[in-house]
Amino acid sequence: MSADDIPESRFAASMLEHADAPPQNPTDNATMGELISLRFSRRGLIKGALAVSAISATVGTVALTSAEEAKAQAGGSAFAFKEVEAGVDANHHVAEGYDANILLRWGDPLFPDSPAFDPAKQTPEAQARQFGYNNDYVGYTPMPGTADPAGHGLLFVNHEYTNPHLMFPGVVTIKDGKPVLANATKERAAIEMMAHGATVAEIRKSNGKWALVKDSPYNRRITVATEMELTGPAAGSERVRTNADQSGKKVFGTLNNCSGGLTPWGTFVTGEENFHGYFSGQLPEGHREAANYKRLGLPDSTYAWGRFEDRFDLAKEPNEANRFGWVVEVDPLDRNSVPKKRTALGRFKHEGADNVVAKDGRVVFYLGDDERFDYVYKFVTAGRFDPNDRAANMSLLDTGTLHVAKFSADGGVEWLPLVFGQGPLTAANGFQSQADVLIETRRAGDLLGATKMDRPEDILPNGVTGKVYVMLTNNTARTDAQVDAANPRAKNAFGHIVEIIEDGGDFTALKGRWEILLKCGDPSVAAVGATFSTETTKNGWFGMPDNCVTDTAGRLWVSTDGNNLRETGRTDGLWAVDTEGAARRTSKLFYRVPHGAELCGPCFTPDDTTAFVAVQHPGDDGPDWPAFGRRSYYEDLSTRWPDFKDDMPVRPSVVAITKRGGGKIGV
Ligand code: FEO
Ligand code: CA
Ligand code: CA
Repeated sequence: MSADDIPESRFAASMLEHADAPPQNPTDNATMGELISLRFSRRGLIKGALAVSAISATVGTVALTSAEEAKAQAGGSAFAFKEVEAGVDANHHVAEGYDANILLRWGDPLFPDSPAFDPAKQTPEAQARQFGYNNDYVGYTPMPGTADPAGHGLLFVNHEYTNPHLMFPGVVTIKDGKPVLANATKERAAIEMMAHGATVAEIRKSNGKWALVKDSPYNRRITVATEMELTGPAAGSERVRTNADQSGKKVFGTLNNCSGGLTPWGTFVTGEENFHGYFSGQLPEGHREAANYKRLGLPDSTYAWGRFEDRFDLAKEPNEANRFGWVVEVDPLDRNSVPKKRTALGRFKHEGADNVVAKDGRVVFYLGDDERFDYVYKFVTAGRFDPNDRAANMSLLDTGTLHVAKFSADGGVEWLPLVFGQGPLTAANGFQSQADVLIETRRAGDLLGATKMDRPEDILPNGVTGKVYVMLTNNTARTDAQVDAANPRAKNAFGHIVEIIEDGGDFTALKGRWEILLKCGDPSVAAVGATFSTETTKNGWFGMPDNCVTDTAGRLWVSTDGNNLRETGRTDGLWAVDTEGAARRTSKLFYRVPHGAELCGPCFTPDDTTAFVAVQHPGDDGPDWPAFGRRSYYEDLSTRWPDFKDDMPVRPSVVAITKRGGGKIGV
């Protein structure tokens, strides 16, 4: 193929994080939008409001005990900082009195022998020793035994995907006034493969500023070439065996790592999200995986690495794609450890894997499948977390029960087990084993009647309040028929946040109650139907909730993906959202990204004095920003953040935010 074969839409799709991935759910299961509509049309807004109070009262029994709670009860926001003004320019902005320092940039050397970053002469070998592209999830864990847990730790960062038009000189040409991206060469694809994956980095704060410890024995790059092991019920299945791996257990690499989580035993878990875009070619006629792959949008060929490696060509290696789409566990304390693809947590377009230790010691992982009309899941370990036995905890993710969520119009949520032999998950529907159920998790959810959601992203259990927050980014494919006057968004362009309280405050419960915390978007536009509090300023509202985190006080912080400049006049950023007391649904803008970026990975040190955030794909897009007005690419960038040097392209980076003079963030 020549560059001419690539339609311009492909150029946009070179960013695989496409919000417009075609929905793949063929069922007539109810959508969340339909349920919200049903619920509010049946019970009326007043009863809906009462239901909110009822849930709040339940939560009051495990309520905040901090100073923030007192503030919330007094009617004010629990967050004390002066808001950033929403808008767009070439730089990032943090609230007054805070510093936002660049900690790690794409291409930064991670090891003493790493070559310096030279964007005009990048090589796969150099990239494999440097910080990767498009940082997404960021997790922090203190160095074992350190006297300074909030100032010395290990950072785990996902590198979700690559934007070749921003990374490489000479790959974009202008044809008939339109930018056209050249197909990858073998060398370029090899660099992009090494720019994917994850980074483990030892970092240390001195004189108030964080820096990489370059000679650390912990620093590690995980790439598409890193050996991994499939574990759990699907490991070894004939459906995950390939010509190169007859064991069905040895896989190379991890793809499109989006969000993630830190386990109580100090490992990191990372979600393989839009893995379909790396596979091209057609399955052999009549191949058994045809329906399975269709449900996942395979092949998609956005990256089409099958031109360079047979395993990414479905015609040559039909089972390889079954070895992606999992949650991967990485032990940051041993850089030679083999990352484990934990098949018990299911196979779909995994967003994150936030988790919590339940009352009885079992560990509960909340999992989103980020596609329009796909599902919310939770995995409950069979074993119990033992704080004194790390080795035993290391196999907790291989045995347990995966559940899919069914939300009902009366405010209930049911967690339906995805267990072979139960209900419809039998040979009659083509499942011969638990491996089959897990490899085709989406189809199992379809059969159980799970609720079709508006792109589930991070799902966060809040150990302080007992609530679970579900980020639903948007779903512009939702039709008029699927909404009503109480939820008047014919296209859910701005997303919403659902709040769940599990029965008895027990995260392992099979039933719970749900409520909408927020319908997002501009509350000053009535037709949007947003539900921010009246205290929320013109800077404070947001759309497209994606990642989220709670601080030690249990306060919610939300980062966004896709605040459409043309519609909103604002970039993505980090918002502080009140969830308790009279200030509930008040939101404030704390930090915003440079033009073209989205914000990922908010993460706090254990004392809340540093917030790490990941600025992903800065400088992407362009036409929607009137001050620039055209597609941004390597030779014609809308911003050169963070270096602002003529010979440096834009660089995705992790930023460390601290309060000037020290102290907790937002207090
Ligand atoms: Fe990679 Fe769902 O965001
Ligand atoms: Ca995400
Ligand atoms: Ca995202």
